[in-house]
Amino acid sequence: MAKGRIVVVDDEFHFRDWISQTLKRRGFHVDACEDGQSALELISENDPYDVVITDIRMPKMSGPQLLRAIRDNFPGTDVLMMTQYGSVPEAVSAIKDGAADFLEKPFPQETLLIRIQKLFESRKLRTENHNLRRELGSKFQFDSIIGCSNGMMKVLESLQMIAPTKATVLITGESGTGKELIARALHENSPRRTGPFIKVNCAAMPDTLMESELFGHEKGAFTGAIKTVEGRFALANGGTLLMDEISEMSTGMQAKLLRVLQEREFEKVGGRDTIKIDIRIVATTNRDLPKEIKEGNFREDLFHRLNVCPIHLPSLSERMDDVPLLVNYYVGLYAQEYGKQITEIDARAMEQLMQYIWPGNVRELQHKMERAVIMCNENAIQPKHLYLDELGSKDSPAFTLDASAQASLKDIEKAAIFRALQFNENNRTRTAESLGISIRTLRNKLREYREEGITVD
Ligand SMILES: Nc1ncnc2c1ncn2[C@@H]1O[C@H](COP(=O)(O)OP(=O)(O)OP(=O)(O)O)[C@@H](O)[C@H]1O
Ligand SMILES: [Mg+2]
Repeated sequence: MAKGRIVVVDDEFHFRDWISQTLKRRGFHVDACEDGQSALELISENDPYDVVITDIRMPKMSGPQLLRAIRDNFPGTDVLMMTQYGSVPEAVSAIKDGAADFLEKPFPQETLLIRIQKLFESRKLRTENHNLRRELGSKFQFDSIIGCSNGMMKVLESLQMIAPTKATVLITGESGTGKELIARALHENSPRRTGPFIKVNCAAMPDTLMESELFGHEKGAFTGAIKTVEGRFALANGGTLLMDEISEMSTGMQAKLLRVLQEREFEKVGGRDTIKIDIRIVATTNRDLPKEIKEGNFREDLFHRLNVCPIHLPSLSERMDDVPLLVNYYVGLYAQEYGKQITEIDARAMEQLMQYIWPGNVRELQHKMERAVIMCNENAIQPKHLYLDELGSKDSPAFTLDASAQASLKDIEKAAIFRALQFNENNRTRTAESLGISIRTLRNKLREYREEGITVD
């Protein structure tokens, strides 16, 4: 099968033929025409073309006229305009009129091939994103969620099924995988979207505060309760309550929560009236709840109440197909925000991004792209703008010591320690120094690893 379908339009036979032959040799299907009008006829009568490479000045119909006709009638076809050497106005107006790119004549074969390759790459990204949106249907607004990997498609499918219901949802996944983003999407795509979306962070508070935060309190219920206050449950009435990091709640609070989940009713702290509410609960955790249950940190009955509709977000290293999309998205976003003319990601830079293990998942990628954009004063992001530490690289020998795909903070720490030991030829004093930890901490860590069965020397 051809790599893509291209039309070459130029009234100069030799030039047109040279381009056609060059591209045919690379596996493209190429048709050629000598003016805009015959090109337009060819395009209307055949299967859709991917790219039209056209000259500007031609008899019958000029390049810019052809460009506008294609833009209006064949939006799926990209136009690559060949401009005269040094003619900035020609190039500018071509891009303004909707050309995907321009090529200054004359150009070497190399340039032609690189530009074509780039064009096909960006077409591929566009199609992936487009298909994704189409599959999800216009009913759903998941615009802020980027992803085309199988893992992410599954998430979006569940989201689509679950969002319209009132079912309790438990979202699991490592830190930075997008749990809050998904929680918001659940709300935005539910019949409650016009109601409130209230978030409560279960990790941040001691029990007594947590209780009044969730249920509210009556005036005088405890010292300092100078007026009656509504809790998050009441505030979320008619909408969605996001209980972030639910696993961090004490078991005592978990018991109180269980009742609300079962009965959808509660009393304020110090209050006697029972308050009934209509809310949807979405909970998140980055812990393994079945394990927490075994260890006695999480109530099993609460887990079953929460786990009605589970959504698990794969870590970024389990869905590397999404990396180019996310990189492009965030580079575009920050380039606009910081007013930079960055149009490309250098191929070697992308390669490095694909090699990286992403312990901090999408959040880390987002921050790294923001920094790259800030550091970049060229039109392409280069490897030197990325600051990827070797620690997260899949090739890093230390990391392969622990081949688990999901890098926990502990794994990364372990990897760093082994790597530093290797580098310092097992000299512990220098290793501790280079890591910025005390020799005692290092010894303790090594003892821990030994207990896990990993020997160091
Ligand atoms: N698929 C995605 N598409 C676009 N942006 C994403 C995606 N996943 C995550 N993000 C972005 O990454 C950042 C982190 O996401 P979010 O806060 O939802 O993660 P989290 O799983 O709740 O992390 P934590 O466990 O640390 O709270 C946010 O800025 C979010 O918009
Ligand atoms: Mg979060």
